[in-house]
Formats: sequence, C-alpha cells, structure tokens
Amino acid sequence: MKITTLTHETVDQSLAHIDQFAIDVLTGLCSKPKNIPAKYFYDDIGSELFQKITQHTDYYPTRTEFEILDEIKNSLPEFIGESEIDIIELGAGDGHKTKLLIDGFLKNDYKVNFYPIDISEKAMLLLEKNIEPNSQLSVHGIVAEYFAGLRYARSQSKNRQLVLFLGSNIGNFNLAQNQGFLRRLWKALNSGDFTLIGFDLKKDVSKFLSAYNDSAGHTKEFNLNLLRRINNELGGQFDINKFQHFGTYNPKLGAMESYLLSNEDQEVYIKELQRSFHFQAYEPIHLEYSFKFLKTDVELLSKQAGFNVVNHFTDRNNYFVDSLWRVTKESGT
Ligand SMILES: C[S@@+](CC[C@H](N)C(=O)[O-])C[C@H]1O[C@@H](n2cnc3c(N)ncnc32)[C@H](O)[C@@H]1O
Repeated sequence: MKITTLTHETVDQSLAHIDQFAIDVLTGLCSKPKNIPAKYFYDDIGSELFQKITQHTDYYPTRTEFEILDEIKNSLPEFIGESEIDIIELGAGDGHKTKLLIDGFLKNDYKVNFYPIDISEKAMLLLEKNIEPNSQLSVHGIVAEYFAGLRYARSQSKNRQLVLFLGSNIGNFNLAQNQGFLRRLWKALNSGDFTLIGFDLKKDVSKFLSAYNDSAGHTKEFNLNLLRRINNELGGQFDINKFQHFGTYNPKLGAMESYLLSNEDQEVYIKELQRSFHFQAYEPIHLEYSFKFLKTDVELLSKQAGFNVVNHFTDRNNYFVDSLWRVTKESGT
C-alpha cells in the first residue's frame, strides 16, 4: 500500500506540526474553561487505545455501525451504479469497518481505488494490516488533516467518488462547525458524487454513560494519554495520577462531554511553552464533545449543505444511522 504524508513531509513541516500543537495547548490551557482539541488524541498510543475502546462491549457505536455496514455491503454498490469507484475516507482509523464495504464493491465486480485519510500515522499502519491491495483494489493512504487529504485524494482521482465519514466522527463538531464542514465537503465534490456519514442517534442516556466510561478503563487511559503526549512532545510535567477522567451527558446540548479533572490544586510546567499553568482542585479540562442526533437533524444538515438524502441505513435498535447522500449541483456551480 502506498502512503503519502502531507503533515510532515520535510523537517520544517514536522517542526511546524509541533509548533501548532504547542500553540493549541497554550491557547487551550489559557482559556476558561481550559480545553485541549480532540484531534490531538491520536498519537501512536492514542490510536492503539482507541482501537481497544472500539472492541469493548460497553462501546456500542463501532459494533452497531459494523452490523449496519455488514447488512448494506451488497446493496450499496447498486445505489452508486458504476463499475469503478474512488472511495475516500476521512479519519479512516484502522479501516476494519471499511473493509466490509470494499469487499461488497469488489464482490459486485467493481474496481475500487481506496484513499484512506488520517491525521495519525499509526492509524494508517493499523489500516495497512486490515486492507490488502489486489488487482481490483488499489490503496493509497494519506496522512493528513481532513481537507488537505481530500484535496490531495481528489487530485489523484478520476472516477465517481464516495466519501466515507464513519464512526460518528461528525459528532465531534458542534452545529455551526458541522454546517461549515458539510458545506465545504459539498463544495469539494462533483455533482453525482456520494457521501456516507455515520451519526450516533439519541437514545437512553445510560447507554451513552457506559459507552464513554467503559468498565475496562480504556476511555480513561485514552483521555489521560493526552497529558502524556504533552509530556512527551512538549516537555510537560503532568503527573497523570493527579487527574481523573469524567464523561457526562449534557442534555441541553444533546452531547456527551469528556473532561479531565485536576484532583488537587497544582501547578504544571510545560518546557516548550516556558511557563506553568495553575489548576484549581477539581478544575476541568474539556477534551471532547460527541453530539447525538435525531434522524430529522440528519436530514436538515444534509439539505442545508446541498446534498440529497438517498437512504438512511439503521440497525435494529435504531442506535446509529449511516446516511447516504448524493451531491446535487446546478450546472456551473
Ligand atoms: C473516532 S476515530 C474513528 C475511526 C474510524 N472512522 C472508525 O469509525 O472506527 C477518529 C479518527 O479520525 C482521525 N482524525 C481525527 N481528527 C482528524 C483530522 N482533523 N484530520 C484527519 N484525521 C483525523 C483520528 O486519527 C482517528 O483515527
């Protein structure tokens, strides 16, 4: 499998990447409430921890989406109606769910060109183990941010495109970010292209609470790993034992929220930033939103961005929906 890295092709860009992390940590820890952007979860250890979360029984989203994709893998090619397809996946992770869809297209005599995009190099290596190229399947991994990767993939692509955005990654954005993201996606694609997006649906809150506080403590480790990453990459002096994971549902927002709480009043020095940060006892650092949706929310988002809903694919419990949308554009748009 070919892999192109857009984030640090040169030493200078690698330094720029560290600089950006430092700036984001500085901005986040100076904000009120303190925060660290969720995209920094996925260093090598974070990507492995996320894989463990997805395999745990408490974490229903991955298992449920797997069931949906397994169910639709043979009918999806009929909706697209081509003989060759370029599948571009945003935030592909280890690709184990995507493999189902790719196998479905191959079984239906498609030629498939797969462009997985992920900010994490480690995720790309995990994906490489799950998806092997063959004469009917080319795989070109792109280590990059979503839209830089999409631009690059589209520059290589010549066929009808299907953009995958699975795992309810879209739930990490708030409404305004979502609307901006989807409109940008619509603008990037050609009329007649498709996107398949996974949304976690609103359901009994107890399901959310156990999924985001799994009994093995993988989510706790995943969140605390952000502090380890700051220690490793920015010379931070966080004592991991002095912070605790807290995952809760905010019914006003309709979102799960992840926090780290400082167990005591403390100062933490970060060498790269040449300063200390003060944490009051039980002060939160906000890490992640995971917004939950109604099917009517999904339909509105699609319409506002300029797509047409082709089909909603759901599981038997109605926990999750993978929604297939088609790009419609007036000629000349
Ligand atoms: C929640 S995981 C989901 C993985 C996979 N789509 C799934 O459904 O299992 C999110 C993935 O998106 C990647 N990611 C997060 N933010 C990103 C960004 N801004 N650009 C590219 N990839 C990103 C992470 O590295 C991670 O592999």
